[in-house]
Amino acid sequence: KSASDDQKSSRAKVITPEQLRSRLWFDNPDNPGMTALYIERYLNYGLTGEELQGGKPIIGIAQTGSDLSPCNRHHTDLAKRVREGIAAAGGVAFEFPCHPIQETGKRPTAMLDRNLSYLSLVEVLYGYPLDGVVLLTGCDKTTPALLMAAATVNIPAINLNVGPMLNGWMNGERVGSGTVVWKARERHAAGEIDYEEFLEIVRSSAPSNGHCNTMGTASTMNALAEALGMSLPGQAAIPAPYRERGQASYDTGKRIVEMVWEDLKPSDILTREAFENAVVACSAIGGSTNAPIHLNAIARHMGVPLSCDDWEKVGFDIPLLVNVQPAGDYLAEEYYRAGGLPAVMAELIAQGRIHEDALTANGRTAGENYRERFTWDRDVIRPYDDPMREQAGFLNLKGTLFDSAIMKTSVISPEFQKRYLDDPQDPDAFEGKVAVFDGPEDYHDRIDDPSLGIDENTLLIMRGTGPIGYPGAAEVVNMQPPGELIRRGVFSLPCIGDGRQSGTSGTPSILNASPEAAVGGGLALLQSGDRIRIDLRKRSADILISSEELERRRADLAARGGYPYPASQTPWQEIQRAMVDQLSEGMVLKPAVKYQRIAQS
Ligand code: FES
Ligand code: MG
Repeated sequence: KSASDDQKSSRAKVITPEQLRSRLWFDNPDNPGMTALYIERYLNYGLTGEELQGGKPIIGIAQTGSDLSPCNRHHTDLAKRVREGIAAAGGVAFEFPCHPIQETGKRPTAMLDRNLSYLSLVEVLYGYPLDGVVLLTGCDKTTPALLMAAATVNIPAINLNVGPMLNGWMNGERVGSGTVVWKARERHAAGEIDYEEFLEIVRSSAPSNGHCNTMGTASTMNALAEALGMSLPGQAAIPAPYRERGQASYDTGKRIVEMVWEDLKPSDILTREAFENAVVACSAIGGSTNAPIHLNAIARHMGVPLSCDDWEKVGFDIPLLVNVQPAGDYLAEEYYRAGGLPAVMAELIAQGRIHEDALTANGRTAGENYRERFTWDRDVIRPYDDPMREQAGFLNLKGTLFDSAIMKTSVISPEFQKRYLDDPQDPDAFEGKVAVFDGPEDYHDRIDDPSLGIDENTLLIMRGTGPIGYPGAAEVVNMQPPGELIRRGVFSLPCIGDGRQSGTSGTPSILNASPEAAVGGGLALLQSGDRIRIDLRKRSADILISSEELERRRADLAARGGYPYPASQTPWQEIQRAMVDQLSEGMVLKPAVKYQRIAQS
């Protein structure tokens, strides 16, 4: 049974054909000249007057798939089912391309393009005759970019994920996309496998169309889009090649037409309660550290307060329920068969952790959609009282090193968590000397330099990689120890950085440090050999040098003209650098935030 068949919306139609937004373009007797101009060119490929002027909702399909965006490429097929759903419900589909964003293909980082895609979609949704829109999401940044734009414009909108790839397999073992790269890279660095074997392992992780099959940023953001209420329930986790994916596409097309008649807009769905539901869901699925950046950005464009403190307050003590890589063992197919997000939400609802009244895209509440939809597979989706791990949310750290940085607790080792976080009898804080790298190139050049004296108690620092320092904020805080340490069996060291980390990675890291070095954040004052203290219980992160010395270094940095960063390589890099906010604030374009609900303005 498809998602919308058993869950018919109980909402009333409140919009009449005369009130459709698209009529201002296509059927406006007050301005016959403009109507004639608008309508004549849209007829030229075979649309009929009845379709354009017959009181039918005009529905945009925001297409993110293309040859340049292989994760989302299957959307070019799924869009056909979306169009059929739209037509079946009495709407007219207008498919259009979005700026491509491929996580693994865009240099220097796909994050640079999230805000560009956002900006261009705002212009399209605002400036064209659209009554509603289907957002075709998938690869990491495509989901937040499209949701941010839907929030700003505020016309009825629903998201449809492309779905994850099938499981990867090699030698009888599951091979998860992204996650395997980090593991195979360690083996390659340790000399266990050669270049060709390395590539073969990584290739095996991508066996079909779809996005990453691990709980990386793509699976996370699509789960959160559903948890926010922006998609039909149960669709986020369907693997791309499964028949249910095509069926969900058809249902989504049908549903957006009804949403237009019901005038069900993002502002009705994206409430504070919805964002809290998504934060809770993020902990339970073991979501990516990119999630706070993107969710905070969507909230800012919707005008809903949401901070990294809220992430800790609402999400930290939620247990990890989903046994999927990188925090667990399985991949997308088992997760979907075990029930996907609905089974996770049922578990959270039973514990009173979800705002059940939050309205969702199908016109029903989160409670109505998900209550009692428990899993039958307790190995893949664990019960709340027997989880993979307790307290699996993010910590928000502060101190002289930064005002905010995120630590994902679901991937740190149990010993680490017990020693530094759980045991109140053990007052240990994490102290050590640092090795400081100015960007990924510097790290690659010097990580094996013995004069740095890196040992098992060193913390690796990556700076100059925030939204301004490394335009877009790169996913480069995935630093492995020097080869010498790896050969001795030390496979990871704690990392701190003002950049991001891939959601498919499992290193104990403190990420998204804001403000970044490039705008004078505390990381800019560090020197290799300094000692720092991280107290997870107090959520503090401080440089262990005197305040006089800190002030001296700060004055010194100012005299040198501030922390240096490379010149922009493209016009957009320069434009974005001049107006982008820090990672803790969602990395939004600051001047864009004041434009809210603009379709109603
Ligand atoms: Fe596109 Fe992971 S690289 S989803
Ligand atoms: Mg990523």
